[in-house]
Amino acid sequence: MSQVKLIVSNWKMNLNINQARTLTNKLKKIQIKNNLIKNIICPQFILLPIISNIIKESDILLGAQDCHYKKFGAYTGDTSVELLKEVGCKYVIIGHSERRKEHHETNNIIRQKAQLVISEKLKPIICIGESLKERKNNKYLNILEEQLKVSIPHNLDEIIIAYEPIWSIGTGLVPTEEEIKEIKNFTYDFVFKSKNISKIFFLYGGSVNSENISKIFESSDINGALIGGSSLKFEEINKILTFG
Ligand code: 13P
Repeated sequence: MSQVKLIVSNWKMNLNINQARTLTNKLKKIQIKNNLIKNIICPQFILLPIISNIIKESDILLGAQDCHYKKFGAYTGDTSVELLKEVGCKYVIIGHSERRKEHHETNNIIRQKAQLVISEKLKPIICIGESLKERKNNKYLNILEEQLKVSIPHNLDEIIIAYEPIWSIGTGLVPTEEEIKEIKNFTYDFVFKSKNISKIFFLYGGSVNSENISKIFESSDINGALIGGSSLKFEEINKILTFG
């Protein structure tokens, strides 16, 4: 393994305070031999200050699962990038399919969120992905192109894009190496051609676990993984972080 890999734990709406503390304290003790691995954890908002305090003086990096697209204002229930920054977040997941579905987030909103995150000097992890129906109808490249076209900002040094096919999230179904490669190449072609972005970090997410991680990485040559269920189990995430 010769390039940086981002291992992003998306805890989603899981773990209470005690469980999150216990898991984070265990994560702190992992000896990651390979300094090319970045361990990024994304807890629920209320957990962020607690986890931030625990990971001080460790190599673990903190991320949030969302933010608002405006700096501040009358947006009841939302969270600002400013606060995320204040509690030590370096990354923000933007446009996860669960937010697109449950909160009706559009590509346009996602781009505005990403722009604000970048302007505040944090790194957005922008999610794209098609449904099973879109894949079966052979519409997936059109859907992904529209997501890339509208949700990715222009003129950047770098961007992190996470490909998470909706049909793979929490299902145990993982695309083949060829399928991941196809989307990676498609993303590179489209973004380099139309966005004036110098570097892309391409992540894969969806049913990643300790058994399939090395195959996904080795065969598709991607820059990391966005991990849901397996990130909640210490034994699993430990194996993933130390796989190399
Ligand atoms: P699972 O790893 O549980 O399939 O979830 C993937 C995901 O949605 C990460 O953002």
